[in-house]
Amino acid sequence: MSGAPNDESGRTLWHGRFEAGPAEELLAYTVSLPFDQRLWPDDIEGSRAHVSGLARAGLLTESERDSIMAALTAVEAELTAGTFVFVATDEDIHTAVERRVTELAGPAGGKLHTGRSRNDQCATDLRLWCRRELRAVAARVLELQETLLSRAREAGDTYLPGFTHLQRAQPVLLAHHLLAHGWALSRDVDRLLDTVARLDVSPLGAGALAGSSLPLDPQFTSDLLGFARPFENSLDAVSDRDHVAEALFVLSLIGVHLSRLGEEWVLWTSDEFGFARLDDAYSTGSSMLPQKKNPDIAELARGKAGRLVGNLTGLLVTLKGLPLAYNRDLQEDKEPLFDSVDQVSLALGALNGMIATAVFVPERMQAAADAPTLAATDLAEWLVQRGMPFREAHAVVGALVRRSLAGEGALADLVRADQALGPEAAALVAPGSAVQRRTTRGGAGPAPVRMQLERFVAQIAADRARLGAPAPTR
Ligand code: ARG
Repeated sequence: MSGAPNDESGRTLWHGRFEAGPAEELLAYTVSLPFDQRLWPDDIEGSRAHVSGLARAGLLTESERDSIMAALTAVEAELTAGTFVFVATDEDIHTAVERRVTELAGPAGGKLHTGRSRNDQCATDLRLWCRRELRAVAARVLELQETLLSRAREAGDTYLPGFTHLQRAQPVLLAHHLLAHGWALSRDVDRLLDTVARLDVSPLGAGALAGSSLPLDPQFTSDLLGFARPFENSLDAVSDRDHVAEALFVLSLIGVHLSRLGEEWVLWTSDEFGFARLDDAYSTGSSMLPQKKNPDIAELARGKAGRLVGNLTGLLVTLKGLPLAYNRDLQEDKEPLFDSVDQVSLALGALNGMIATAVFVPERMQAAADAPTLAATDLAEWLVQRGMPFREAHAVVGALVRRSLAGEGALADLVRADQALGPEAAALVAPGSAVQRRTTRGGAGPAPVRMQLERFVAQIAADRARLGAPAPTR
C-alpha cells in the first residue's frame, strides 16, 4: 500500500473500513498537498483552538492537551524552519500535520481529530487564510493609491487631453486622470474589506456535516480564533464557498482595473503618444531590436486579467451543481484562489514601482491637449452664457471647426472674425485656457482637483484606519 491520508503507522485515515489500500492513480489524482501546504499556519492555529475546545469539554486531560499543544508547537517550528519532512502518504496539509503531531505526541495525538472532520477543518483553515491574505491585498492596493496620490500632487497643473472613444475630447489635469484610477481602487479596498467581514465566520465544530454528539462548543473555538461568530448551520458551514467566489470576483475586478490602467500606460509610453517614459528598472528590452524599451509590466497587467476572470468563472462552474454538503469538488477552491491572490499581489507591486519611477512628459501631454479644437465646447458654452440655445451654439462652433479643418484658417482667427463670437471668445482657444475653466465639483480643472485631492487623502486615511494599518512614513 502506498500514500494516502494516514496515521502514524502508515495506514490510511480510513483503514478500518477498507480491505485494500488505495491505487497509485487515485492518490496521484486526489492529492492536494502540493498546493494546500501554504495553509499550514492556519491549520496549526485551527488545531490549537480545537485542542483547547476538546480539553474544555473534558475530552482531553490536561496532560494530553499539553502534549498535543507541545507537538503542534514543534510541528510549527519544523514547518517554519523548512525542516518538516513530508512523506508520500501525506495527502494534504491537514493529514501531514496530524501525522506528525501523532508521531511526536504519542497516543494523545490520536485524540486530535476527535469531533472534527477535514471538512470543517479545511473550511476553517481557508477562512483564516482569506481573512489575512485579502487584508494584505488591500494594503497593497492602498500602496498603489498612495503612489497615484503622490504623482498627482507633484503633477501640479500639468494637463493632458481627456479622451472619449480614444479621440481627444477636452483637456484634464494629469492629477485628475491619475486620481480617477485611485477612486476605482478605493472601491476595491472597500470590496475586499466587505468580503472579509462576510467571511468572518468559524465553521469549526460542524464536523463532517452534522455537528457532534460530543459536548463541543463552536462559539468557544470561534472566539479563540478571533472570528466574529460561529456558523449557524453545519451543512452550510462545510459546503459554503461563497467567500472564495466573492474573493475571486473582487480580485478579478482589481485585475480589470489594473488592466485598464496598464492599457493606458502602453499607449502613453508609445512614440505616438510619448506622454511618459518608463524607468529602466521597470521596462524590458528586445532580444533583437536594440532600440526597444517595452512596457511589459503594463502589458501583463492587461494580459493576466483574463486569467483572473478565468479563475472566477472556473470556481463558479465547479460550485453550481454541488448538492449539500461537502463534496471533493470543493478541493478545487484553492488553486484559483491562491493564484488570483498571488497574481494580483505581484501586479500591484510591479505597477506601483512602474508608476512611482516613470517620468511624465508634460510638453507632449500639453501639446496634444492644446489642439484648438479641444476648446470647442467652451466656445459653445460661451455663446450659451450670452443667451444662445446650446444646439444652435453647437452648430455655430461645429461649422467653424469644419472650416478650420478644411484649411480656411486657424480656429482662433475664424472665431475672432465670427459675428457671434469675436475677439473675447478667441481667447478661449489659447493654450492652457480650457482646463482652467473646468470649475464644477469633481471636474478636471485646478480648483475642483484641489478639493478632490483633499477628499482622496481622507479616503485613504479612513481605509487605512479600517485596515488597522499605519500610514507609511513618507
Ligand atoms: N483536501 C480536502 C480539501 O481541500 C480536504 C479533505 C476532505 N476530504 C474528504 N475526503 N472529506 O477539500
